Amino acid sequence: MSWDPRRLPSQAGKTFVVTGAGRGIGYFVAEQLAEAGAHVILTTRGDTAALDSIRSRVPGASLDHVTLELGSLESIRRAASTLSGPIDVLINNAGKTGGSRHREVTDDGLEIMVGTNAYGPFALTALLLPRITGRVVNLGSLSTRLARADLSDLEQARGRYSLSKAYAYSKHGVHAFAFELDRRLRASSSPVSSLLAHPGFALDGGASPRPGITDRNSAAQRLAERLMPAQGKDHGAWPVVRAAIDPDAAGGQFYGPSRSLFGAPVLTTPVAQSADPAFGAEFWRLAEAATGTPFPV
Ligand SMILES: NC(=O)c1ccc[n+]([C@@H]2O[C@H](COP(=O)([O-])OP(=O)(O)OC[C@H]3O[C@@H](n4cnc5c(N)ncnc54)[C@H](OP(=O)(O)O)[C@@H]3O)[C@@H](O)[C@H]2O)c1
Repeated sequence: MSWDPRRLPSQAGKTFVVTGAGRGIGYFVAEQLAEAGAHVILTTRGDTAALDSIRSRVPGASLDHVTLELGSLESIRRAASTLSGPIDVLINNAGKTGGSRHREVTDDGLEIMVGTNAYGPFALTALLLPRITGRVVNLGSLSTRLARADLSDLEQARGRYSLSKAYAYSKHGVHAFAFELDRRLRASSSPVSSLLAHPGFALDGGASPRPGITDRNSAAQRLAERLMPAQGKDHGAWPVVRAAIDPDAAGGQFYGPSRSLFGAPVLTTPVAQSADPAFGAEFWRLAEAATGTPFPV
């Protein structure tokens, strides 16, 4: 079926949780869902400017806020217990996209990229799953095409640390989690489905301006971003929103831009490694052990 990201079906009556919605792609996912009439719970690390921005553009927007730090299992548990009502769709958008060239760890001693981007959403989803009625959408990445993951040393405890490898490994973990979750949900005949989306290459520079949200980088940097083969983060949100609400989308699918880095949101193909069931099962074992969070499916 054709899909127009500018004309979304009404989401009135549905509740979405969008992590990392204070800026970037998560902000635009939340804004687009609010425009479609959804009740949107934005998680941020404390900043609530995004809610004011959405309210100024979408009169009557139904919004809530929960604080979530994915680099802390304690914060994840606190956020999960605050999110008490039924959730139609959980969108695990938040992710660490930059950092130190030296190996750092989360509050719980996990390598910071894998801990924040892969194990954090795993733990949050495990805790929320009994309250989710529709879909879980995770944020994948083309970076999985650039490095093969080594599951025997996913947190790079051995050898020389590489930040770009750490990011790619974390996103292999996200892919593995999304596809393994889909397999497990189907096997248990759950009504919940798990999908994956990636935004291509999305930058603030090309996005529709949102004061206080898209202008955090310098004007010169945003100008340079507009000259890159990328799309704005507003369009980067499109595959995520499609995976979350297209009635024809199904568990196990992966949405991304039609021209890889940019374009209309379409079905796309993941790299073979992290879509492999054996890889997914091993990631699952590692994630349960690292987070001490048994998954309910
Ligand atoms: N942009 C791209 O081209 C691209 C490509 C592939 C995949 N992705 C993925 O898409 C997602 C969003 O990317 P983006 O471009 O919007 O990135 P971004 O502008 O850097 O925003 C990242 C979001 O994640 C939140 N976050 C970061 N670390 C966190 C932590 N420890 N705990 C809780 N929240 C945290 C940030 O919150 P703060 O505001 O508090 O820092 C922010 O809301 C990420 O998962 C990223 O890996 C992006």
